[in-house]
Amino acid sequence: MTGNRYWSDYWRSGQTESCFGAAGPVDTGPVWAPVLAALPEGARVIDLGCGAGALARRAVAAKRGFSVTGADYAEALPPVEGVDLHEGAALEALPFADAAFDAALSQFGFEYAGAARAAPEAARILAPGGRLALLVHAAEGPPVQAARRRLEASEPLIAEDGLAHLARRLGEAAASGAPQQSLLQQAQAGFAAARQRAQDETSAWALGFLAEILNKRMLFPPDYLIENAGTVIRELTGYCARLRAMTAAALTQDGAAALCGRFKGLGLEMDEPQAARAANGDQIGWLLTGGKPG
Ligand SMILES: C[S@@+](CC[C@H](N)C(=O)[O-])C[C@H]1O[C@@H](n2cnc3c(N)ncnc32)[C@H](O)[C@@H]1O
Repeated sequence: MTGNRYWSDYWRSGQTESCFGAAGPVDTGPVWAPVLAALPEGARVIDLGCGAGALARRAVAAKRGFSVTGADYAEALPPVEGVDLHEGAALEALPFADAAFDAALSQFGFEYAGAARAAPEAARILAPGGRLALLVHAAEGPPVQAARRRLEASEPLIAEDGLAHLARRLGEAAASGAPQQSLLQQAQAGFAAARQRAQDETSAWALGFLAEILNKRMLFPPDYLIENAGTVIRELTGYCARLRAMTAAALTQDGAAALCGRFKGLGLEMDEPQAARAANGDQIGWLLTGGKPG
């Protein structure tokens, strides 16, 4: 369960959305409206990998008398009104009884888990006649492509010889009285190289912040560089870990079909994966739907 620390930190920081295209959070409303409308009044609904409850909130807002549960292995999830939240709950070992739910839904959550264990768990907690609907990242879609570009911009900054570690080492050199000239030259070369790369808002923030603390380093004690470079390293490490997890979790069309096949092998009836699209036509994911025979 190595990834849950980064997600816990993310939700603790007050974020409420987690899937971004090039122009901001993706709008999944049109994907879920028909899925939620097709559920029976009063259905027991679970949001798997709920995070801050973006999907669980939609289920509550549908005002269909659903009893809504959220499960996620992260901790420090913000409370969501009307949702029974279970933190620290791995999708591979769900803390719920067999047949406890009429609908198992997930928005960009299920695909992060190990399918070999998470799929039987999702099938187990579904009641006979229950519905399954999973919106998973599409490897081909713009949000995942944007994540790859974001990684290309930010990962070099936290590489061992990247600017953030150089800034920290400069602080350490200043603290111990060691020479700083070569580190400064490396930092200048690092800024020049970064200017050649495309930046996103996070890497641009990190670059600006690193430039500022390096410029001001003579005005403060060495701890100033060490601590502030540490902040950049910590923030970017979590950011890149989440982006790497997203790109690794994303499914191609064949991968989505294989996941459907896995559920079929568990006795569920599954539809063909559908490309889920935003209003502008961009593919935001694959929607996998099916159900447990009654
Ligand atoms: C991309 S976020 C999606 C959150 C939310 N569904 C949304 O749409 O905003 C992925 C979520 O899946 C959770 N997650 C990843 N792997 C998990 C696992 N094995 N068990 C439970 N939750 C997991 C993470 O903690 C994170 O909150």
